[in-house]
Amino acid sequence: MATGLFKSSITKKFWMSLTGIFLISFLVVHCAINATIFANDGGQLFNEWAHFMGTNVIIRTMEIGLFAGLLLHIIDGLMLYFQNKTARPVKYAYEKASASSKWYSRSMALLGTLILLFLILHMYHFWYRSRVTGVTIEPEVMFVDGKKLENLYGEMQYIFSKGWVVIVYVLGCISLFWHLLHGFKSAFQSLGFNQAKYKNTIALVGDAFSIIIPAIFAAMPIAFFFKLIQ
Ligand code: HEM
Repeated sequence: MATGLFKSSITKKFWMSLTGIFLISFLVVHCAINATIFANDGGQLFNEWAHFMGTNVIIRTMEIGLFAGLLLHIIDGLMLYFQNKTARPVKYAYEKASASSKWYSRSMALLGTLILLFLILHMYHFWYRSRVTGVTIEPEVMFVDGKKLENLYGEMQYIFSKGWVVIVYVLGCISLFWHLLHGFKSAFQSLGFNQAKYKNTIALVGDAFSIIIPAIFAAMPIAFFFKLIQ
């Protein structure tokens, strides 16, 4: 039975890692496209990219894979969390968790849940408006080189004019930072890259990624709120 449990945890960890790396690659693309807002060109470049992402058939098909990957990552993560809990329901009397692991590596489920709550609000703010209802602000569209584009940039400007939204987004980015700080390294290790020659490089790239990507994301609502970009 112990072997069965071990085997199934390994399988779950494998899928967690694979879907985690897939979601990491999404974050790179998402962050790069959104960073076009810093061109400070009234949203022309960003709206062009958002238009491409929203209308390209290949991207729209990949979107289904993205949501499936996200769902699998969440389900697998919850199963691992509860499996670990039931495997050792009573803590050892002498156990001092901080001695053996960092708090954020023990809090992956909590951090993941905070990111999920952030994502529900985020999907309502942007995905729902760009894919279902259309944007809610005026002007709804913008013309660039004669091309009619939905004004998702204007929607961002409007949404990030509210202080509480900016605070929730920044907190979401901080949760993402902590989650990635452990998750990035852990994903590669679970996939077998745990030899000494890879370890340092993975740790370095993982730490840099975990800081840079959430920091760029957090800068977006802040920049809109303080009107650093118009
Ligand atoms: C904090 C700054 C962020 C801003 C300004 C932002 C903005 C946006 C916008 C405008 C869209 C709609 C894009 C479109 O329809 O083409 C979107 C979609 C999305 N965002 Fe974000 N985002 C941010 C952070 C994040 C983070 C940290 C995550 C993940 C942890 C995330 C996950 C997603 C997902 C899953 C979608 C749906 C993808 C799709 O439509 O294919 N976003 N975001």
